[in-house]
Amino acid sequence: DPQPTAERAAEVARGRLNFAGHGVERTDLALVLGSGWAAAADGVGEVLASCDLAELPGFRRPVVAGHGGALRLVRTPNGKSALIFTGRTHFYEGHGVEAVVHGVRTAAALGATAVLLTNACGGLNPAWSPGTPVLITDHINLTGQSPLRGATFIDLTEVYSRRLRDLAHQVAPELPEGVYVQFRGPQYETPAEVRMAGILGGDLVGMSTTLEAIAAREAGMEVLGLSLVTNPAAGIAPEPLNHAEVVQAGRDATDRLRELLRGLAGLL
Ligand code: 6GU
Repeated sequence: DPQPTAERAAEVARGRLNFAGHGVERTDLALVLGSGWAAAADGVGEVLASCDLAELPGFRRPVVAGHGGALRLVRTPNGKSALIFTGRTHFYEGHGVEAVVHGVRTAAALGATAVLLTNACGGLNPAWSPGTPVLITDHINLTGQSPLRGATFIDLTEVYSRRLRDLAHQVAPELPEGVYVQFRGPQYETPAEVRMAGILGGDLVGMSTTLEAIAAREAGMEVLGLSLVTNPAAGIAPEPLNHAEVVQAGRDATDRLRELLRGLAGLL
């Protein structure tokens, strides 16, 4: 089946989340939660309404433990409206790149002008212990995919907004920065692939975010990217990786991530 349009999904979301009843005309920002970030999201504000993402055209139930599947309408303390996607579709799930960026496009269709993309990733810097949040400064898309169709030559000089990165540093002056490298997954990288990512200029390896960031730029949104380093990437530390460790590092970092999101929500 063809992917339903973001406009269709936005229309249904308006009803399911009762925008009219809450006096919400349009949303200001969207937040996409990666593994480990979900429990921290209550820092963003008061939940006005919530629905199952799978109720909306073009979305599906999450397949992976630790990935959520809800859409929430939230009011931030300074009166802005935020959409929170508690999970995302990954390219490795095999539903195509349109399904991966459907959330970002739906948020744009609901008026969001900024999107905060979060993820869990492996770190190349051995100083980044599990649970370290890192601000994404730029990315390298190694998926071979693009959400753009036809001759859409959009500029990617500043995918991750300078303005939003400055705000993040106001909230957390010590927040380290890094370049995020998206691999297709779902397998984790080999040590040689991790070395390659480092030679290419990468600091973080993961399986999301870059395709969504490209779609957000196409839609004219400002993007902020935040990674949670849940483990050293393969070959950086001697132990092999496992998904349970990724989920646990997220749980352990919850309080810190909540304060980060709370601070950001107060400035955005
Ligand atoms: Cl090491 N690699 C990738 N691609 N994704 C991850 C990860 C590593 N650790 C958490 N997520």
